[in-house]
Amino acid sequence: MKDVYQISDLASRDLLDEGADKPARLAVIGFPVAHSASPAMHQEALDDLGEDVRYIRLEVPPGQVAEAIDRMKALDFIGCNVTVPHKFEVIDCCDDVSDDARAMGAVNTLVFGDQTTGHNTDATELIHAIQEDFGVNLADLKVMILGVGGGAGRAVATQCARIGCRELWLINRTLEKATKLSGQLARPEVKISSMTPDDPSLSEAAHRADIVINATSVGLKYGDPLPLPMECIQSHHMVYDMIYNPAETPLIKHAKSEGAHTANGLSMLLHQGVLAYECWFSKEKPLEPMRRGLISTL
Ligand code: ATR
Repeated sequence: MKDVYQISDLASRDLLDEGADKPARLAVIGFPVAHSASPAMHQEALDDLGEDVRYIRLEVPPGQVAEAIDRMKALDFIGCNVTVPHKFEVIDCCDDVSDDARAMGAVNTLVFGDQTTGHNTDATELIHAIQEDFGVNLADLKVMILGVGGGAGRAVATQCARIGCRELWLINRTLEKATKLSGQLARPEVKISSMTPDDPSLSEAAHRADIVINATSVGLKYGDPLPLPMECIQSHHMVYDMIYNPAETPLIKHAKSEGAHTANGLSMLLHQGVLAYECWFSKEKPLEPMRRGLISTL
C-alpha cells in the first residue's frame, strides 16, 4: 500500500491493490496530493458503514486528468474527489455537470457510471459549515469575500448570491476578476460591490459586513501578512478563514485579538466530504465518522 499512487499504478487491479485488504475504488486526484486529509476522512466513513472500498491519493500531473479518469473507470472506480489544480480542467472530462458545479465553473467530485457526472460540493456546504461554527444562517448575512479570483472564492461568492445573502462585497487583488464575477452574479435582490484590498473605502465596507470570509491563499505560508488591513476587523464580525492548515492564520489570530468570532476551513472540508459521500452512495450522512477521521489527521 502506498501513501500516494501514480497513474502508472492504475495499470492493473493486482498492482493497485497489492498489500491492501480492500480494493481501491475511490480517490482524490490532485498535484500535489500528498497533503490531502480526504482519505482519512472518507476511509473512516467507508469502514464504519461496512463498504468494501479503499480511498486512495492519486497524483495526477496537469494535462493527464482525462487519462487518469479513463483508467479509474476501467478499474471500476465509483468516483473521485478533485483538488487543486484540476477543478477547472476536469469539467471537460464530464458527460454531465450539476447545476451547482456549472454555476461555480468548477468540479470537485466525480461520479462514474455509464456517464461521468461532475458535482461541486465545496461551497454548497458552506451554509452548513457557517451554521455549525457560528449558529447563523448565511443567507441572512452581509458577506465580504476576500480572494474571488480563485476557484474557492468564486464558488463561495456564487453560492452566497444564489441563496440571496443581503449584501456582498467581492474583494480581489486583481480588480477585473471581481468586477467580472459581480456582473455574472448580478440579481435584483442582492447588492454586490467589488473592490481591491487597498481600496480606501474597504474598511468602511468591512465594518458594515457581518462576516468576512478569506478565500485567498494568504495565510497558508509562515510569515504571511493579513489579507486585508487590520482596522477592517471589528468585534462584531464573524471571520471564517477557508485555510485550515495552519489552524490559526494571522487573520484568525488578529480577529480573535479584536474579540471577533472566528472559525477555520475544517468545517467546510468536513461538510463537502459528507456531500461527496452522498453523491457516491446516496445513504445516510456519515458526519460523525468523517469528523473522527478528519480529527485523526490533525
Ligand atoms: P483556489 O485554490 O481557490 O483556486 P488560487 O487560484 O490560488 O486558489 O486563488 C487564490 C486567490 O487568492 C485569488 O483570488 C488571488 O488573487 P488574484 O486573482 O489577484 O490572483 C488571491 N491571492 C493570492 N495571493 C494573494 C496575495 N498575496 N494578496 C492578495 N490576494 C492574493
